[in-house]
Amino acid sequence: MTTISLALDTPELAQAYEHGSDRQFNHGKLLIEALGVRRGQRVLDVGAGTGRLAAHVAEIVGPEGSVIAIDPLPLRVDIARKKARENLAVAVGHAEDLSAFTARSFDVVYLNSVLHWLDHRQKRRALGEAARVLKPGGKLGFSTGSRERPHQLEPIQRKVLAELGKEAPGDAPYDHKVTVDEARRLLERAGFIVDTLEIRTFVDHAADVDEILRQTRSGSFGNHLSHLSPEEQRAVRDRLAQELEAWRTPQGIRLERNLIFAIAHTAGN
Ligand SMILES: C[S@@+](CC[C@H](N)C(=O)[O-])C[C@H]1O[C@@H](n2cnc3c(N)ncnc32)[C@H](O)[C@@H]1O
Repeated sequence: MTTISLALDTPELAQAYEHGSDRQFNHGKLLIEALGVRRGQRVLDVGAGTGRLAAHVAEIVGPEGSVIAIDPLPLRVDIARKKARENLAVAVGHAEDLSAFTARSFDVVYLNSVLHWLDHRQKRRALGEAARVLKPGGKLGFSTGSRERPHQLEPIQRKVLAELGKEAPGDAPYDHKVTVDEARRLLERAGFIVDTLEIRTFVDHAADVDEILRQTRSGSFGNHLSHLSPEEQRAVRDRLAQELEAWRTPQGIRLERNLIFAIAHTAGN
């Protein structure tokens, strides 16, 4: 299984994520809505990226509440820090190690589009840590890629890579996705009581293959197709451009993306 690298991010990719991550921001807002985040709550955003969603949540919790946003990528944390304010703190940190935070100290912990970047062991640790830092009855929410219903780009890309004899070792990043059943087992093993576990489908339109690749590269902090040379990447891009014409509609190239949405809570007092 391929290891996801945290060493491939660049200032350009981080900026591209800040300005081109409306998809993650929009489904993140739905996650926050499903969590019922409200004024006065203390919230931890794990894997906050450039902090767009954390800033939105800081507005919701207001001055009586607070948000802490952590992410392991220093370049994205630098961008998120610009959004810091009295009730929004930003720091470098990993989901698997929340030792900077005391037990039972948050009302809500969420991971928006983060879990599919973690391998199985990291996921178990991340959820265990989330359970530890949540108050009794506190809520966990995550959105993550679904293994049973992958993004429509995945089989197209797999076909193109196979044609060129360049299958990704382990098909990163897709091999870290989970099914709904696996997500339930991970949550229950960490001691959570599951409230909602469902797959939601989102439809995206892109002008062309380059827009799709830009978003995929910045969203994967440089991991997407990173096993290929620049020439091989160009060959994949050209073949993808041909294949994706079959998916073109008047609004652009139309692709569906499926995400597991999970809401769970820790046992009460
Ligand atoms: C697609 S971005 C999502 C960012 C943000 N949550 C949002 O909604 O825009 C995935 C994020 O997961 C973060 N990530 C990767 N490995 C992580 C880990 N071990 N712990 C916490 N975050 C991690 C990356 O740094 C990246 O910012």
